[in-house]
Amino acid sequence: MPGKDGILSGKVSLITGSSSGIGAAAARVFAREGSAVVLIARREERLAALVKELQQTGAEAEYVVADVSRSADMRRAVDFTVERFGRLDTAFNNAGYACGRTPLHLMADEEYDPVMDTNVRGLFNCLRPEITAMLAAGNGGAIVNTSSVGGLVASPVAAPYVASKHAVIGLTKAAAAEYGGEGIRVNAIAPGTTRSELVEAWYAQNPGIEQELHRTTPQPRTADPEETAQAAAWLCSERSSYVTGVTLPVDGGFTAL
Ligand SMILES: NC(=O)c1ccc[n+]([C@@H]2O[C@H](COP(=O)([O-])OP(=O)(O)OC[C@H]3O[C@@H](n4cnc5c(N)ncnc54)[C@H](OP(=O)(O)O)[C@@H]3O)[C@@H](O)[C@H]2O)c1
Repeated sequence: MPGKDGILSGKVSLITGSSSGIGAAAARVFAREGSAVVLIARREERLAALVKELQQTGAEAEYVVADVSRSADMRRAVDFTVERFGRLDTAFNNAGYACGRTPLHLMADEEYDPVMDTNVRGLFNCLRPEITAMLAAGNGGAIVNTSSVGGLVASPVAAPYVASKHAVIGLTKAAAAEYGGEGIRVNAIAPGTTRSELVEAWYAQNPGIEQELHRTTPQPRTADPEETAQAAAWLCSERSSYVTGVTLPVDGGFTAL
C-alpha cells in the first residue's frame, strides 16, 4: 500500500517518459511515496502494464498516450489529470531523446530536429499547460525537468543533445523566475549515465565504454534509475520547499571533476 506518510502523500503528479527507464522508476517511487500518478509516453502497452502494476499495490494510477512534441497532446494530458484527480500538484517532465553520434558538420536536419522537438519544444509543451493548471488551482506546485550532465558540460558528437539539455536548464530557470511568486517551484535534475535499455544497448555495442566512464566518475558505477527518480521525488516534495531554479546533478560526481 502506498505510504500515507510518504513525501508525496496526497499529491497528484504527472510523469512524462514513464514507459521505461528513469520515468518508469519515478512512477514507482512517486506512487510509493503516496502520490496519485498520471503516466505519459507513446508506447501504450508499456504504460498499461505499469499502471496495472501500480494499481495492484493500491496506488492511484492512470495513463495518457501522448507525444510531448505535440502541444495538443500535452494539453489533453493535463486536462485529463485535472478532470480525473481534481488538480495537478507536481510534474516530472522527463521524456527525452538522444541522437546518434554524428559530427556536427555532417549532421542532417532530420537528425537535429527530433532531438530539439522532443527535448526543448516538448518541455515547453509540457510546462505551458502544467503551469496554467497550477495557476488556476492557486495552490502553487513543483515541477522537475530532466536535463543531463550533457546540459552542464559538452561531449563530442552529441551537439543537438548537448544544446537541448542546456536549453532544458534555461527553461527551468526562466519558469522558476517567472512563477516563484505564485508558489510554483521549477527545478531540473542532471543525470549521469543511468542504467536504461538504451544505455545497456550502447554498452553492448561499445565494449569497454562502461569501464571508461567509470574511470572518470568519482562513484565508479552506473546509476540505478531508482536513484535518479529519488532525486526527482525529493525536488517535487515539500522537503525542498525553498529550492527553485536549480539543476541537481545526479551523476556520482562526474561533473565535480
Ligand atoms: N539514461 C541515462 O544515462 C541518461 C543520462 C542523462 C539524461 N537522461 C535523460 O533521462 C530521461 C529519461 O531517459 P531514460 O534514460 O530513462 O531513457 P528511456 O528509457 O529511453 O526513456 C525515455 C522516455 O521518454 C519517452 N519519450 C521519448 N520521446 C517521447 C515523446 N516524443 N513523447 C512522449 N514520450 C517520449 C519514452 O517513451 P515512448 O518511447 O514510449 O514514448 C521513454 O518513456 C531523458 O530525458 C534522457 O535524456 C538519461
